[in-house]
Amino acid sequence: DTVDWEPEAAGKSGYPHFMLKEIHEQPESLRQTLHGRVEEMAGRVTLEEFDRGAFADIERVQFVSMGTSHHAAMYAAAQLTARGLTANTYMAGEYADCPAPIDDSTLVVAVTQSGETADTMNAIRRARDAGARTLAVTNVVGSSVTRECDESLFIRAGPEIGVAATKTFSSQVVALTLLGERIAEDSTGVQRAEMRSLLSGLSDLPGDVQQVLDESTAADVAEALYGCDAYFFLGRGPAHAVALEGALKFKEISYEHAEGFAASELKHGPLALVTDNTPVFGVITGEDDLKTISNLKEVQARGAPVVVVAPANLADKVEFADYLLPVPETHPEVAGVLANVQLQLVSYHAADQLGRPIDKPRNLAKSVTVE
Ligand code: G6P
Repeated sequence: DTVDWEPEAAGKSGYPHFMLKEIHEQPESLRQTLHGRVEEMAGRVTLEEFDRGAFADIERVQFVSMGTSHHAAMYAAAQLTARGLTANTYMAGEYADCPAPIDDSTLVVAVTQSGETADTMNAIRRARDAGARTLAVTNVVGSSVTRECDESLFIRAGPEIGVAATKTFSSQVVALTLLGERIAEDSTGVQRAEMRSLLSGLSDLPGDVQQVLDESTAADVAEALYGCDAYFFLGRGPAHAVALEGALKFKEISYEHAEGFAASELKHGPLALVTDNTPVFGVITGEDDLKTISNLKEVQARGAPVVVVAPANLADKVEFADYLLPVPETHPEVAGVLANVQLQLVSYHAADQLGRPIDKPRNLAKSVTVE
């Protein structure tokens, strides 16, 4: 008798793919990201990397990043903008060719899981050469980006093997949320009550992710929508970033055509693509982005199957959906992370049902060190 034992399977802890293992690791990786950084009662964030007042002079934040990291940066920029800062995101490869103007109040933040992405490195070099203060948000201690930047913040997600980034996106968003709170506290000031509610949502996040993992019906949704022409994802504010990330994950590993749009963009082109064979995923995070519902009703009227990912307490508002993937009720800025976990599971199961090589999608690399 021969024993069918793949050495790699040992590292997968019984999961068929690293991607699924890493999706399921998120309660723990998020605990690590948050560890010691949230003072819920005081309504404060403490990052040992940065003294109080370290960001007092910052008025403008420019994020440079690629791929999934770029979506985490978009999420963070939407949050910072809501706190009264000027926050912009740049695809690092574009910024490297055409950097944005900086001044003394500008902080340039490189968001990169590996810390080795060539485009992101080039962008940060351009920013540094122009005299910008630079900060790396990365998963890898000792990576190139940490040597290039003035300061670093580690997301502590642990090693990620699957080419498709999953747990590192969640940890990036959380680390960037914490960084954003520190910047806002030092520069524009924060409202303590609002901060407490956000911090309580962050503290609950690992458990809430576990609940999503335990209860998700994403596999059934993926099966019901198997083999359609294209898959679209809509959201506004931070949920726009989640929609883009949902589409990126879906196309990377399933090889199906998937696109994410801002909900407001729908009428300006994408609607022409919508048929009864193009499912649309709508990401809703709370009362503030319920406007997305009217966009979803519009695609539904054209026959598209609609999947809504939304907090469970809004279920009565989204009864029209053909499929609902609920997430636990929480602060809206945290709900996007939970919604993204649902979408990770949809992509995983869609790719699995198609028999794709999930951990090593064709033509893609975990880390892209060439321009
Ligand atoms: C590649 C990977 C993506 C990743 C992107 C940026 O495209 O396949 O998963 O998001 O690079 O990588 P970084 O290490 O800079 O976050």
